[in-house]
Amino acid sequence: MKFTHLIVVAFATLLSLSAPARTSVASPDGNVVVTVNVDNGRLYYNVDRDGEVILNPSRLGLTLAGVPDWAEGFSVVSTSTRQERSSWEPVWGEEALIENNYNELTVELQQKKVAPGRRLRVVFRVFNDGLGFRYEFPSQQQMSDFVITDELTEFAFPEAHTSWSLPVEGIRFYEGLFRELPLDSIGWASTPVTIHTASGLSMALHEAALTDYAAMNVQATPGSPVLRAALTPWSTGEKVFVTDVRTSPWRTLIIADNDGDMMLSRIMLNLNEPCRIADTSWIKPQRYIGVWWCYHMKENTWEIGPRHGATTANVLRHMDFAARNGFGGVLVEGWNYDWASWEFSFTRPYEDFDIDSITAYGRAHGVALIGHHETGGKIANYERQMEDGFRLYRDKGMHYVKTGYVGDLLDDVERHSSQAGVRHYRHVIETAAQYEMCIDNHEPVIPTGLQRTYPNLMTQEGVRGQEWDAWNPTGGNPPSHTVTLPFTRGLAGPMDFTPVTFSFENPVMPQTRVNTTIAKQLALFVILYSPLQMASDMIEHYEANPAPLQFLVDCPTDWQRTLYPEALIGKYITVARLAKDGSTWYIAGATGDDARTARIDMSFLDADAHYLATIYRDAPGADWETNPTAILIEQRKVDATSTLYIPEGRSGGFAIKCTRVD
Ligand code: NOJ
Repeated sequence: MKFTHLIVVAFATLLSLSAPARTSVASPDGNVVVTVNVDNGRLYYNVDRDGEVILNPSRLGLTLAGVPDWAEGFSVVSTSTRQERSSWEPVWGEEALIENNYNELTVELQQKKVAPGRRLRVVFRVFNDGLGFRYEFPSQQQMSDFVITDELTEFAFPEAHTSWSLPVEGIRFYEGLFRELPLDSIGWASTPVTIHTASGLSMALHEAALTDYAAMNVQATPGSPVLRAALTPWSTGEKVFVTDVRTSPWRTLIIADNDGDMMLSRIMLNLNEPCRIADTSWIKPQRYIGVWWCYHMKENTWEIGPRHGATTANVLRHMDFAARNGFGGVLVEGWNYDWASWEFSFTRPYEDFDIDSITAYGRAHGVALIGHHETGGKIANYERQMEDGFRLYRDKGMHYVKTGYVGDLLDDVERHSSQAGVRHYRHVIETAAQYEMCIDNHEPVIPTGLQRTYPNLMTQEGVRGQEWDAWNPTGGNPPSHTVTLPFTRGLAGPMDFTPVTFSFENPVMPQTRVNTTIAKQLALFVILYSPLQMASDMIEHYEANPAPLQFLVDCPTDWQRTLYPEALIGKYITVARLAKDGSTWYIAGATGDDARTARIDMSFLDADAHYLATIYRDAPGADWETNPTAILIEQRKVDATSTLYIPEGRSGGFAIKCTRVD
C-alpha cells in the first residue's frame, strides 16, 4: 500500500468514528423524509411522507462476481448534503419550463472488515413529489472494472398495495396490457410499477438515466409487500459489467396525492443529465403520417411486388396529403432491401422507390421523409451499416429515422432490456446525434428520460400500440388500455402509440377492430404524449372524414404547459395542454369501459380573456361497440368562470381546441 493511500484510509477510519449510522434528508417542503441507516453493517433506507410510512427500512447493496459483495460490513465514513433550486427548458416537451428542486444526501461508506478500505457511495435526491437514489462506484485501487451479479435494493412497502405493471416474461417489447394486482402478486415485473395506497396516494416506481446498465425490473414474493430490484441479465447470467460509467441509474419513486399530480412529476427528467447537443435547431416536434397502416391492414406489402407500398408515386401522394394538411412528415416503411428475407440493407432502396426525387419533392413542399431502419433485432448487422445509413439520409436532407428491433432477442442472444441492449440503443442515439438524426425507436428498452440529454431521442414504442387493433388474433386493445397507459408506460416518456384511426374494422382479420369511438381517437392524439405524433390511418380514411381531421390539422405536439383536470387510472383521463403560442388550449378526455360525463373547470384559462371552444365529442348514442363513428362538432364561448360538462360514450372521448378571441 502506498503511503498516501495509508493516510487516506487512516483519515477515513477516523471520520467513521464520528459519522452517525443514521442520517436523514427531507424534501424542500419538508414532507418527504428519507432516512439512511447502517444496522449491523447492513445498509438500509426508509421513506416517510407527512408522517405516513411509504417504505419501511429497505436493504441497499450489490452482489459482485469474484470479490466480496457490497452487502455487509458497512460503516458510514461521512455524509454531506446539498440543495438544488433551479429550472430548465427542455428542447420540446409537455411544458416549457421544468422546476428542479431537491435536497441531496450523499453517504460515503466503507467496508472495513469485509474489504479493507473499499468504498461505496449512495446518493439520494428528495423532491416534493418523491425521490431518486443511485449507487456510485468511486475509483479506487480495490475496484477497477467489476461485475454486478445482483442488486440487493429493496422497496419495502408496508402493505401489498394495489398496483399496475407488466410481467417481464411472456411479453415482448413491453407490448402488454397492464395488470391490476396486489404488489405481492406481480412476480418478476418491469417498471414503471404504478401504485395506489389505501390512504389515497398515487405512486410510481421506475428508474432514470439508464445509460450503461441493465434495466431494473422488480421481483415480488407472494405474501410479502417488499419488492426487490431484479435486473435483466446478460445471456451468461451476469447483470452489469461496470467499466467507464461508475454509477447505477437512479431508482425513482414518485409519491403524489392523486393520479394527475403523479403524471406531472418530472423527477425522471430531472435526474437525467442536461442536453449534450449544442445546436438543437434541427430537432423539431412534428405530426406525421405514414405509408404504414396499409401494411398492418394487409392492403400493401413491405417487400417489392405488385402491392408494394413504398413506391415513388404512392409516397408522393402521401406527401401531397401531408402538405395540404400541415403534417410535417411522411414515414415510409418498406423502402429498402430486403423485406422478403429480413436481411436488411440501410443504403439500398428498392428500384421503385426513388429517394432522390422523393426527398426533393418533400423539400419543395415542406414535408420531411421519415426514414425507417427495421433491424429485425440484428444489431451487429445494423452497427456495421448504421453510419452509412444515417449518412445517406443526411445527404438527402432528412432528419428523422424510425428504428425497429422486431426479434425475440438481439442477435438471437441478448434481451432488449439487458445491458447489451441498453448499450446498443445508447450508441444509436449518440451516433444519430452526430448525423443530426431524430430517432423514433421501436422495440426499445423501457425509456428512462434520456431525451433530456439527447433530445434527438424523440419518441419510442415500448407500448402495446394501435397496431394491435389491426392484427391481434385475440382482438383489439380493450377500452381501458388507453386510459391506463398515461398512468403507467406514459410515466417513462413519450409513446409512439400511433393513434387516430378513423376506420374501425379490418376486413382481412375480422376478429379484431379498433375498440373506441372516433372522438376518443382524436383525444388520444393529445392524451398520449409524443413530440413526434403519428396520425396512423390511411389517408383515404382521413380524406373521407375532413371535419374530424381538422382537429389533427390544428393540434401541435409541443407544449407550454400541461395539467390534468380529471384522472383515474384505468377509468378516465382529461388533459389540458397549452400550445407554445401561449393562448390556445387543447383539451382532451377519454373514458374506458364506462360512459360518463367529464366535468372540466376552466379556471386555468386567462382570467380576463374570452375563448371560443371547438368541441369534437361523442354524439348522443356514440359507443365503441355499436356506434363508434357518431361524432358531433360544436362551438361554445367559454372563459375562466366556465365549467364544461362533456358526455363520453363507452370507450368514448372528446377533443377541444380552445382559442383565445380577445
Ligand atoms: C413493428 C413496429 O411497431 C411497426 O410500427 C412496424 O411497422 C413493424 N415492426 C415493421 O418494422
